[in-house]
Amino acid sequence: VDLLRTAFGTQNEVLLLVGSGSAGLDAAIGSLTRAAERVVVGVNGYFGRRIADIARSHGCRVDEVQAEWGSPLDPAAVEASLVGEPVAAAVVVVHVETSTGVVNPVPAIARIAEAHGAAIVVDAISSLGGMEIAMDEWGVDVCVAASQKCLGGPPGLAPVAVADRAWERIARAGARPGWYLDLGTWREFAVSGWSAHPSPVTVPTNAVRALLQGLRELADEGISQRARRFAGLGERLRDGLRSTGTAPLADEADSAPVVTAARSFPGVPSSEIVAHVERAHGIRIAGGGIGPLQDSVFRIGHMASGTSPDDIDDVVAAIGSFPRR
Ligand SMILES: Cc1ncc(COP(=O)(O)O)c(C=O)c1O
Repeated sequence: VDLLRTAFGTQNEVLLLVGSGSAGLDAAIGSLTRAAERVVVGVNGYFGRRIADIARSHGCRVDEVQAEWGSPLDPAAVEASLVGEPVAAAVVVVHVETSTGVVNPVPAIARIAEAHGAAIVVDAISSLGGMEIAMDEWGVDVCVAASQKCLGGPPGLAPVAVADRAWERIARAGARPGWYLDLGTWREFAVSGWSAHPSPVTVPTNAVRALLQGLRELADEGISQRARRFAGLGERLRDGLRSTGTAPLADEADSAPVVTAARSFPGVPSSEIVAHVERAHGIRIAGGGIGPLQDSVFRIGHMASGTSPDDIDDVVAAIGSFPRR
């Protein structure tokens, strides 16, 4: 938990929920809000859309602030949505939208949320450990991550960092979102509960040990150095993709250092590139995911701690070898 605190850039409490990243989001939104409260959600990709679904499942009135898939959220649009009545209980945004490889401007959005009295919840599932995050400095209320992405662990754990003022809001919200996904349940055991067991449920100790190893490696390299190294790898990949005739989806300034989406060759469904790269080169990349970019975009994850410049060059060469008609 101490190593996670460093990664989140926080002095706050960090709870290690047993579940995937979505469990952390579900718990954060369900614990902070009451049914019928207004929640503003940034939607510029598949995972923003998922968050809107989670908020609706808690009975919240969701106002989606849309941006084109492949572009970042516009803080001014978030502000415009917050101006309306009733006052929003929370703003929820994805940091790195994994479906498009776009980084959203979290610090600016957090400042706006605070100015309008709304809590700010951040989905840092695909960014924590791969980019510098400064939860306390940015003024984030709840920040949610997952063990299996940049932290290098297996799936199954959702680290959730909760600011003190968020606990006050949770107490005010009053209603409990069930038991398992109530952040209060996890806090009770982690902080003040049954001393023999810092978790309310059976802990997958294998996953915790593996996550600890990933966190130690991150601490040894240092988060700033890891973030710089990943930024360099992302740039190398985007340059390489351009040299093959495919084009990164996001503008350079908004591109994530940990996952890259790129437009396929003109007229070629992205699934054909994905299949070629795996069949001919043994490298697995991903299709466009669900949504409007399904057939036109492929995605490359480069968030593993061991990713090297050679790995990047290999995937670029594999894409470049796609037989064009
Ligand atoms: C940004 C983002 N949010 C949420 C999720 C969902 O996480 P999980 O599959 O761990 O529930 C993912 C998973 O890819 C993600 O990348």
